[in-house]
Amino acid sequence: MASRTKSVPEPRLIFEKTRKGRIGCNLPEADTPEVDLASAVGRQRTAVEWPEVSELELLRHFTNLSHLNYGIETGFYPLGSCTMKYNPKINERTAGLSGFAMLHPLQPESTVPGALEVIAGVHDFLKEITGFDEISMQPVAGAHGELTCLMLVKAYHESRGQGDSRRVVLVPDSAHGTNPASAARCGYEVRTIPTDAQGDCDLEALERALDDSVAAFMVTNPSTLGLFERSIAKICEMVHAAGGQVFCDGANMNAMVGTTRPGDHGFDCMHLNLHKTFSTPHGGGGPGCGAIGVKSHLEPFLPAPVLKRDEDGAPKFDRARPLSVGRVSSFHGQFLMAVRALTYLLAYGRERLPHISRFAVLNANYVMARLRGHLPPAHDRPCMHECVLTAQEYKKLGVRALDISKRLIDHGFHPPTNYFPLIVPEALMIEPTETECKETLDAFCDALIAICEEAKVNPEALRAAPESQIVGRLDEAAAVKNLDVKWTRMRTGVPV
Ligand SMILES: Cc1ncc(COP(=O)(O)O)c(C=O)c1O
Repeated sequence: MASRTKSVPEPRLIFEKTRKGRIGCNLPEADTPEVDLASAVGRQRTAVEWPEVSELELLRHFTNLSHLNYGIETGFYPLGSCTMKYNPKINERTAGLSGFAMLHPLQPESTVPGALEVIAGVHDFLKEITGFDEISMQPVAGAHGELTCLMLVKAYHESRGQGDSRRVVLVPDSAHGTNPASAARCGYEVRTIPTDAQGDCDLEALERALDDSVAAFMVTNPSTLGLFERSIAKICEMVHAAGGQVFCDGANMNAMVGTTRPGDHGFDCMHLNLHKTFSTPHGGGGPGCGAIGVKSHLEPFLPAPVLKRDEDGAPKFDRARPLSVGRVSSFHGQFLMAVRALTYLLAYGRERLPHISRFAVLNANYVMARLRGHLPPAHDRPCMHECVLTAQEYKKLGVRALDISKRLIDHGFHPPTNYFPLIVPEALMIEPTETECKETLDAFCDALIAICEEAKVNPEALRAAPESQIVGRLDEAAAVKNLDVKWTRMRTGVPV
């Protein structure tokens, strides 16, 4: 699956370090009778093989493995669309406070007023930042937020007797793959709307697609091309005139925080990736938070229960929700994400929140301007929080966007997103985020420029990159298609 590089020795698996009888922990004598676990739980006994190593060997093994990791805390991580910003450590300190971390989800509401205040505090901020009337923090990922919004849209059309007739969801050709997937999962037929030559939604194509079968249009703003959708108000008007709803994929909210509000653009609902914009940890599809915001006409359908403030401002769960789509996650979503997001929001403070989007946009435009002569932007106009460049001209030298990205690893940088959005040939999508300084951006741009120069004289070197890592070029398709993460003796050449 991977080509090996010579300079770096391959780490051995913990099982390969096993020596019979070595032990890494010191357990006290059992003071209760021994129980055969397998028979106690009604399972057949199977031999489980444990690695046998000393405590120090174990510690070194995992410490050395951890040094092979690359993350935002080791270097620049410009993965476009993913907003890999630095999550301040204070977030973890507050989330670790025992008053939050040790709460039990089944504790009576009357014993957790502080926790409810945290959730309501995030709701207050998000309403103000997005311009929506109500928030739910039940969805645990961005895609889950998309799905939940579409469930609300469906319930809304059903309440108006149009549930069966409105069966189509429109999605731009630049959209993230989760958009059509969410629509299909919700039972909708997906139709694609093309992007025009300037990188905006093709309004004529949209006009042709709009009829009384359309339930919703899912729009990412700024789009995945890193461009603000200039006709967004018009788009919302057009969709509404046809009786449809407009969903905002808010994964790119980092470009808008404190500057402009999707709720004011005409959207009916949106999702937010708290793990992108509001500095909570990323987690593959969760445990994150894909909070959603809705306008008041969709409020009755929100996942139950809904946290609202009473006349005195105290947060209380509203459970009498006859039109609700029901729960979309257990309890109230990922509560500790709310703690982290509120910490982040309070640490910034209302006045400084616009700094997020201003510096995110400034940094992306700086990178785009520095690289323009080597990797031209897919659409030559000011970008928002990320820029999409094309490496198409290097293709004739036999060098592709992926080769450039792999060479970046040898320069000590994490590659940007490749080949997304799909409509840009040889796309390199760079999202620097607001937390990077000019020196880092310059070093990154210098590395990319050096790689582009190298492509002209030594394209083979790029195709062979990376050469500085524990593994060389990975066969990424095989890694996805033949996923096998289980250790067996077979792997080390000894049959099981
Ligand atoms: C534009 C866009 N929409 C939606 C998503 C889905 O978010 P999540 O990964 O949290 O499910 C992403 C994730 O990268 C995205 O970039």
